[in-house]
Amino acid sequence: MRIDIVSVVPDLLISPFGASIMQRAQDKGLVEVHLHNLRNWATDNYKSVDDYQYGGGAGMVMMCEPIEKCFEELMAERHYDQIIYLTPDGSVFNQKMANKLSLQGNLLMLCGHYKGVDQRIRDTYITLEISIGDYVLSGGEIAAAVVSDAIIRLIPGVLNDETSALEDSFQDGLLAPPVYTRPAEWNGLKVPEVLLSGNFKKIEQWRHEQAIQQTQKRRPDLL
Ligand code: ADE
Repeated sequence: MRIDIVSVVPDLLISPFGASIMQRAQDKGLVEVHLHNLRNWATDNYKSVDDYQYGGGAGMVMMCEPIEKCFEELMAERHYDQIIYLTPDGSVFNQKMANKLSLQGNLLMLCGHYKGVDQRIRDTYITLEISIGDYVLSGGEIAAAVVSDAIIRLIPGVLNDETSALEDSFQDGLLAPPVYTRPAEWNGLKVPEVLLSGNFKKIEQWRHEQAIQQTQKRRPDLL
């Protein structure tokens, strides 16, 4: 998989992609991540990428031309399966979307800033608009990192134990069951007996029951 991310502050993304699972996935050659500074495609001497909005009102709007130039250059090199705009008015991201996107080859992501991007760019290029939740961030970069992380960890071979992604919360529509590690007793609190039993069938059954209980208690909307 290849992910291209276009941003006015690409430095914000260096750290999330430069550590842990997302770095390891790149080291293993399972994903290529390319960060692009939109200012490199600015068309004036001031490297402008935004301008005042027509009709008045506070806040700047990301201009069409730099995005057009950037996208056309990238699209001339390869086909993108989805061109994603990160925006609070997009479809709310969930595990099902992550699963689908993890099967794609090339993704292009545009991070919104200021008041957002000129509607004509959305109409012309964008195939998928994603929000990571009902709150407003300062820009789409952190959302792009969140979406990328959720996708990348699903690519076969990225996680050491492939079953661990399958057992994540949401993969079976349920929250994950509680987990424990050593010691078996800590400050008088004991690990549930069944987990020490060595009976894997019983353990599986207990985990499934716990997952249902957790979901009922915390996210009944998922059931
Ligand atoms: N940009 C600003 N807020 C956002 C959000 N909630 N999701 C995605 N992109 C955003």
